[in-house]
Amino acid sequence: MRVLTSWLLVLAFAGPVVAGPLDMPGASQALVCSACHGFAGQSQSNTMPILAGIAPWYFKKAIQDYAAGKRTSPEMEPYAKAVLQSGVDDVAAYFAAQARTPSPVKLDPTAIERGRAASVQCTLCHGVSGKGDASKGVPDLTGQPPGYLRNQMLLFKADRRSPGDEQLKAVKALMRTIPDEQIADLAAYWSSVR
Ligand code: HEC
Ligand code: HEC
Repeated sequence: MRVLTSWLLVLAFAGPVVAGPLDMPGASQALVCSACHGFAGQSQSNTMPILAGIAPWYFKKAIQDYAAGKRTSPEMEPYAKAVLQSGVDDVAAYFAAQARTPSPVKLDPTAIERGRAASVQCTLCHGVSGKGDASKGVPDLTGQPPGYLRNQMLLFKADRRSPGDEQLKAVKALMRTIPDEQIADLAAYWSSVR
């Protein structure tokens, strides 16, 4: 909270001097997200996803899923509901306009190599680049913190992310075939992809 307050102060004092992304309509709504997701969505943490550069269609889906309690997250549910009330398109456009700086979390080079060797099974949906495919409803994995990627894969494996969702049957079935250690390697690999 202290961090957030200092950003608010910076904003107040910077006033009209600050140009660019902070002028966007969604910028003020996005400020509150900084406390967890980092300023301008550039998460520095291992567990919080980076929102900078997120595709608007996927952002909106995630917000709707959290608000509906489909993707269960006690942290996200109230913020998702607030975003839907204040105008999800503006916030989506704000984060999409931020260039993604890949996660600064240190990666083990041997884990990356093991993950690379196992990553072919992901490219069918996420693409060789890992950047996803909007037409299939598949998000970008690249540069996300390894801890976040790993957690989400484990949630799929246990059917705890959007339980029972027919659209996600295939990805969950795949995760169940992957040992947890290899899930960590895959997370390291996709985090390392630029
Ligand atoms: C209290 C901390 C916290 C705050 C504040 C917060 N989030 Fe989150 N957010 C999280 C956590 C934790 C997750 C991962 C939850 C999970 O396991 O699905 C997350 C996940 C997300 C995701 C999913 C990303 C993906 O790749 O699927 C989006 C989108 C998101 N948050 C948007 C927002 C927005 C927009 C705001 C501000 C209005 C916000 N968050 C504020 C903690 C927070
Ligand atoms: C059959 C298609 C398919 C395959 C194969 C697949 N995925 Fe996905 N993946 C998806 C879809 C669809 C989503 C979006 C889920 C949603 O909308 O909630 C997703 C989401 C994810 C997420 C969550 C991203 C975020 O920002 O929250 C991670 C992590 C992930 N996949 C990792 C992988 C890895 C690693 C592999 C390979 C081992 C893989 N996926 C293979 C379809 C697939």
